[in-house]
Amino acid sequence: MVSNSGPIILGIEGTAWNLSAAIVDENDVIVESTATYKPPVGGIHPREASQHHADHLGPVITKILSDAHDRGLTTSDIDAIAFSQGPGLGPCLRTVATAARALSLSLNVPLIGVNHCIAHIEVGRWKTDAMDPVVLYVSGANSQVLAYRKERYRVFGETLDIGIGNAFDKFARGAGLQHPGGPKIEELARSATSYVPLPYIVKGMDFSFSGLSTAASVALQTSLLEDVCFSLQENAFAMLVEVTERAVAHTGKDEVLLGGGVGANQRLQEMLDIMCNERGIRFHVPERRFMGDNGSMIAYLGLLMYRQNTFISIKESYAMPNYRPDDTPVTWWQG
Ligand code: ATP
Ligand code: FE2
Repeated sequence: MVSNSGPIILGIEGTAWNLSAAIVDENDVIVESTATYKPPVGGIHPREASQHHADHLGPVITKILSDAHDRGLTTSDIDAIAFSQGPGLGPCLRTVATAARALSLSLNVPLIGVNHCIAHIEVGRWKTDAMDPVVLYVSGANSQVLAYRKERYRVFGETLDIGIGNAFDKFARGAGLQHPGGPKIEELARSATSYVPLPYIVKGMDFSFSGLSTAASVALQTSLLEDVCFSLQENAFAMLVEVTERAVAHTGKDEVLLGGGVGANQRLQEMLDIMCNERGIRFHVPERRFMGDNGSMIAYLGLLMYRQNTFISIKESYAMPNYRPDDTPVTWWQG
């Protein structure tokens, strides 16, 4: 039995490959259910991913409502429906928004449009001791260094082209590895014996991964796959750590939070840990289930926004494929 007088929010995530729905209260995740789209060949196809989400939305929502019922909750306990409004793949976002609207109307509760990037940050602050960190958010489509300043999460540095995860996945596909490539690259890199020189691309506070990924593919003609995987990781992660460290120096903040699917990488965690130790600042890594895309993070940011009455009408609930984190006023901030 869930005993709580605070808000209870149902959240739906489905910006790309993962469809996930959860119900949370302010203390914890009450229930979560996930259906993952795995492309049979190649990378993520937006329309196929959205068809996957459409096929699985019914069962996923039914599952969390039934599990919630087993925990003593009924649909009348749900105070609002939150959904990832963007950024993400248009067809996937539209499918999720449609389900969220239908739920909001049928349960007669408000609708909350959540920024997916900020949800990655807030679930990290919820599930670690991080208070006011510099955030390194690294996923498939996104790579950003952010920090809170004057009612926004400001982007201090970001990729100039593709996200690091997509760069890894693209390289891995070319090397004949199955999607998603990131975990396979990490595994292969462990057996490397030498470093292969590759580009290191940091421009001001921004970085770029497209050229690095292409150069790594070319290097496969003359070098071992394991060595190229290792070198790709070393360069890409050093670029991220350099910019994160400069954001720390600039903002004067004394903690770093890692988020996003690529954050699961042990080598990236190790490099960030070394940098934070050398500077005498704290480093926070959430549990793995809260790093990749998950419904709980959408429900939790929904809960923070619910407390501020940040609701949207059906008319305002359109998909926002290019929704930037710094477009959202952070009304719920408590440092
Ligand atoms: P977003 O919408 O925020 O861009 P996403 O849809 O890409 O998110 P995430 O779960 O945040 O989903 O990240 C998935 C990415 O993480 C994939 O590109 C995958 O290859 C990468 N990844 C997962 N595990 C690892 C790992 N251990 N090392 C490197 N990359 C990883
Ligand atoms: Fe994500």
